[in-house]
Amino acid sequence: MKVLLNILGWSVGVLLLLQLIQIEIPKPPEATPADEIKAPKEVMSILKRSCYDCHSNHTRMPWYGNISPLSIGVHSNIKNGRKWLNFSIFNKYDEKKKQKIYKGIVDALNIRKMPPPEYLLFHKDARLNKKELQLLQDWASKFIKED
Ligand code: HEC
Repeated sequence: MKVLLNILGWSVGVLLLLQLIQIEIPKPPEATPADEIKAPKEVMSILKRSCYDCHSNHTRMPWYGNISPLSIGVHSNIKNGRKWLNFSIFNKYDEKKKQKIYKGIVDALNIRKMPPPEYLLFHKDARLNKKELQLLQDWASKFIKED
């Protein structure tokens, strides 16, 4: 019994100590509604459902999102995801950056890199079926200028 209590005590202690390790998410950049990406309704609903948690200012934080060690992964995804592409400020990007994003979307979906597989494990609703993947790729491809 004593051994068990000891193990329990240590586990709680370690978990509490782990809470000291947190990755700061930078304050989301300022955005007006006009800065947000504009796309057809079907495309917007896919982006919001499958991409916005990491690529916009509108993150739905899961209940475990601020509990270390899980928060380390969650926060770094949000921090780095927004850095690469933030749909909330899409219209502030210059044409070169937008081109990079459209191409990036087609490529990332081709190899099923996005949404990240480990995220999909916990967010089944964010999975994209073939039709949705195609829709998103067709939409992004239309804007790609040269190849
Ligand atoms: C769980 C968080 C998360 C979700 C959800 C997510 N991304 Fe990402 N995305 C990232 C991170 C983090 C990066 C930064 C680069 C990296 O780590 O590869 C990234 C990078 C990218 C890139 C840059 C190129 C690349 O392949 O690295 C593109 C394009 C992209 N995401 C598109 C999307 C699209 C489109 C969706 C929705 C269908 C999506 N992402 C959903 C986290 C996410």
